[in-house]
Amino acid sequence: MAVLTLEKVNQVFGTGIARVQVLHDVDFAAEAGEVSLIMGPSGSGKSTFLTIAGGLLTPTAGTVTVAGKHYADLSKKARDAIRLDEIGFVLQQYHLLPYLTVADQFKLVDKIKRQGNLDQAAFAGVLQTLGIQELLHKYPGELSGGQQQRVAIARALYPDPAILLADEPTAALDAARVAVVGDLFRELAIQHHKAVVIVTHDPRLIPAADHVYDMSDGVLTHAQSA
Ligand SMILES: Nc1ncnc2c1ncn2[C@@H]1O[C@H](COP(=O)(O)OP(=O)(O)O)[C@@H](O)[C@H]1O
Ligand SMILES: [Mg+2]
Repeated sequence: MAVLTLEKVNQVFGTGIARVQVLHDVDFAAEAGEVSLIMGPSGSGKSTFLTIAGGLLTPTAGTVTVAGKHYADLSKKARDAIRLDEIGFVLQQYHLLPYLTVADQFKLVDKIKRQGNLDQAAFAGVLQTLGIQELLHKYPGELSGGQQQRVAIARALYPDPAILLADEPTAALDAARVAVVGDLFRELAIQHHKAVVIVTHDPRLIPAADHVYDMSDGVLTHAQSA
């Protein structure tokens, strides 16, 4: 069964002459154990799609379900709880807190979500895979863009979410790092049975994907399956 579905999702911003329809009847389903890649140029609606999929934005029309539950049927509190328990976000702006060291970004997660986060060994493995174990004592401002991006990926994985939603997770990475991150996403899907959904215009991630979708002017089409 799909862990995340969007059915006939439409999104309109603005009214009158400022009205823009950003998503048109989007249907989508993500399964555990699979990497779905949504490719499209800038402005095609990818971030809007991901924001709706993660319950951060309620669509103008259509339904979103996570783990069999309709977002629309849930209270704000219940939606927040689902987001916390089930969904890991890697957002375009990395959202690292500037006044916390890298290590403390993770400790903050422990305060917000007290149970079910990665254990020491698994966490160390993620840090090592991403090559950021030496950065734990640094502040975000001391990191390069690529380092911040890798910390943001680790932080999204730390709560061990069932669903990982990533917005342009490789934009700041060189080719070798893209391959590492692509392999990590695959491993998460296959070995840890997560549903991984990535929106990107980076074709270097295609080898990591089970399904490739095309987003064009807010219309989503299934382009290929591996
Ligand atoms: N809050 C908003 N209000 C008005 N327009 C928006 C808003 N968010 C996004 N848009 C518009 O929706 C379109 C798609 O944006 P976005 O989903 O960010 O695309 P992408 O991530 O593919 O670059 C763009 O034209 C953008 O300007
Ligand atoms: Mg975007």
